[in-house]
Amino acid sequence: MRILENISELLTLESALNKDGRHLLPEDLSILNNASVVFDNDNILWVGHTSQLPEQYSVITDRIDCSDLVVTPELVDSHTHIVFGGNRANEYKMRLDGADYQAIANAGGGILYTMNETNKASEQELFDLAVERINRIASYGIGTIEIKSGYSLTYDGELRESLIIDRLKKHFYPRVQIFNTFLAAHAVPKSFKSSSEYLRQVVIPLLKDLAPKNIIDAVDIFHESGYFDEKDTRELFDVAKSLNLAIKIHADEFNDNGGATIASNYQALSADHLLCTGDKGITDLANSSTVATVLPGTGFFLGKPQANAKKMLAAGCKLSIASDYNPGSCHFDNVLFVASLSAPMYPLNSAQLWTGITLNAAHALGLTDQGAIIAGKKPRFSFFNVKNVSEITYNWGRNFAVQKL
Ligand code: NIG
Ligand code: FE
Repeated sequence: MRILENISELLTLESALNKDGRHLLPEDLSILNNASVVFDNDNILWVGHTSQLPEQYSVITDRIDCSDLVVTPELVDSHTHIVFGGNRANEYKMRLDGADYQAIANAGGGILYTMNETNKASEQELFDLAVERINRIASYGIGTIEIKSGYSLTYDGELRESLIIDRLKKHFYPRVQIFNTFLAAHAVPKSFKSSSEYLRQVVIPLLKDLAPKNIIDAVDIFHESGYFDEKDTRELFDVAKSLNLAIKIHADEFNDNGGATIASNYQALSADHLLCTGDKGITDLANSSTVATVLPGTGFFLGKPQANAKKMLAAGCKLSIASDYNPGSCHFDNVLFVASLSAPMYPLNSAQLWTGITLNAAHALGLTDQGAIIAGKKPRFSFFNVKNVSEITYNWGRNFAVQKL
C-alpha cells in the first residue's frame, strides 16, 4: 500500500461521477484541501483529509508528500491519430492563403497524402515517431491516450498499424495506458470505385480477422460526405456489434449528417467532432449513454465554426474534450491546453472543463473504473506542481505536470 499525503488540493470529481458527468456545477469538482489518498496497485482504498487518516493506514511506510502539489484524476486524451508518417505543414499554409480542407483533399492532399507517407515508412520508423509523440503527451500529465489506425487504407497496412498500436500499448503500460481504435474506414483509396467496395473488400474482412486477436478496443468510421455514408456506417457497426466490439464515430464534422443520432442508436461509446450537429442529434445524444466529444483544436486549426457545446450541456449531454492530434486537421497534442483555451468560448464551467478531460473522457473509452478519485477506482492520477487547480488552466500553455509514481 502507498499514500499520497498532505495534498495541497485534491480534485476527486466524486460529485461529478454521482451525476454521471452531466449538468455539472463548479462544486461538482469535489475539491479537498490537505488531503490523503491510500491505494495499492489496483485500487484506491481511502480518500479524505490527512488529519482523518484511519489508524490502520498509519503504519504504511511508502508515503509520497504532495504538500506542494495538485492531484487530479488522470488526464485522458480520448481521440488521437498518432501513428502517421510525414507532415502536412504546407496544407496549413494553403488554408491560411484561402484553400479549404476538403478542396485540398480533392487535390491530392488530406488523408490520402498521409496514407502515402505512412505506407512509405517502415514499421520501426512509425513506432519510433509514435513513441516520441506519446512521451511528449505524457509529459503534460496525460496518462491514458486513445490512438486510431487509419492512415494506411490497405488490408496489410491497416493490419500493420493496428499491430503497431498494440506494440505501443505494451511498451508504455502502465505508465501510459493506450486504447486501440480501428479506423480503417477513414478514407477511400482512389483505386476503389466506391466507399462500399472498400468497406466490403478491406475494412470488414480485416476487422473480422483482427477481432479474435483481442487487440482492438473499439471500431470507428469517418461518417461524412465524400468519405463513408450512413449505409456504410450502419453496415460496419452491425459487424462490430456482432463481434462484441465497442463503437466510436467521427460525426457531423463538415455537415449535419445525422451521425450523432446513429451513434446514440448504436449506443456508441462516443460521437466525436459534432461541429454541425443539429437539435435532433443533440437531443438524441443527451438521452443516450454516448459521450459527446468535442475537438476544439480542429475548429481552431481549420478555421471552422465550433461545436455547439452550450446547447449540448444544457440538453444534458455527457461532454468530453479531446485533442484530435493528427497531421492534417489538428496538429496539436495537448488536450489540457486546448480545453483551457476553449472553455471561455463554449463556454464551460470549471467542472465541465476538468470532467471533460478526465471522467467523461475515460467514459468515452468505456473506462468506467477510472476518472474519479474515490475508493474502488483505479489509482490513475495526474500531478501538477502548483498549489491550486485554478493555476493550471489560468497559465495557458505552461506545463506544471510532474511524474510522482
Ligand atoms: O478527426 N476527420 C477525419 N479524420 C481526422 C483528420 C485526419 C486528417 O486530416 O489527416 C479528424 O479530423
Ligand atoms: Fe479524428
